[in-house]
Amino acid sequence: MKDYYNKRASEYEAVYHRDDPVRQRELAHMAATLEKAMYGKRVLEIACGTGYWTEKAAMTAEHIIGVDAASEALEIARSKNLSSGKVDFHLGDAYKLDAIENGFNAGLAMFWFSHVPRARIGEFLRGFHTALEKGSIVFMAENMLQEGIGGELIRKPGIEDTFKRRMLADGSVHEVLKNYYDQSELEAIFSPLVTDLRIEMETCFYRVQYVIA
Ligand SMILES: C[S@@+](CC[C@H](N)C(=O)[O-])C[C@H]1O[C@@H](n2cnc3c(N)ncnc32)[C@H](O)[C@@H]1O
Repeated sequence: MKDYYNKRASEYEAVYHRDDPVRQRELAHMAATLEKAMYGKRVLEIACGTGYWTEKAAMTAEHIIGVDAASEALEIARSKNLSSGKVDFHLGDAYKLDAIENGFNAGLAMFWFSHVPRARIGEFLRGFHTALEKGSIVFMAENMLQEGIGGELIRKPGIEDTFKRRMLADGSVHEVLKNYYDQSELEAIFSPLVTDLRIEMETCFYRVQYVIA
């Protein structure tokens, strides 16, 4: 996964510029919702990638630390020179957040949750929530499964996770773990752990927002 995202770093943000009015409208709404949720917050952003959403969150947040495992994605994020003093990027692992400083009252994870193996969801959420203060707001967004978008979906016998087969500009082909959920599955995952859970399913994307109890 890390190697794939290192290779993909320079072409990654093309996903946000697809010529599709529905997608663009949902992305604009997502950005506005995220900016509102992050207003005045000290944010821990998991899997920040090239900093596309970090830049949006930085419009309203007090401070953001973005963590990602792919150094090439972080290089792009750092090259954006997002308001210095307000945004820091760290090379790190979403499953090992104990090394990150604390004092966060918001969490952000954009297009990351789908890459968490089903068997590691509990581990990821425990670590993520432990890194945040009680009462923190969390905002996540993800892709809906849409035929013809983001590569062929692969199911493997006896394996609960699904995968997408994707080709990069250099012609290399990669199988990337990518899970899709419906609303009831998301409710079953999050509602025992959080309060004020809000799940919005749209055509291209879904959003999950909640508060750490
Ligand atoms: C789909 S991209 C999302 C990037 C960014 N959040 C966005 O929405 O534009 C997934 C990101 O997860 C990162 N990643 C993969 N495994 C990771 C891990 N174990 N810890 C932290 N980041 C990881 C990849 O490097 C990649 O940047």
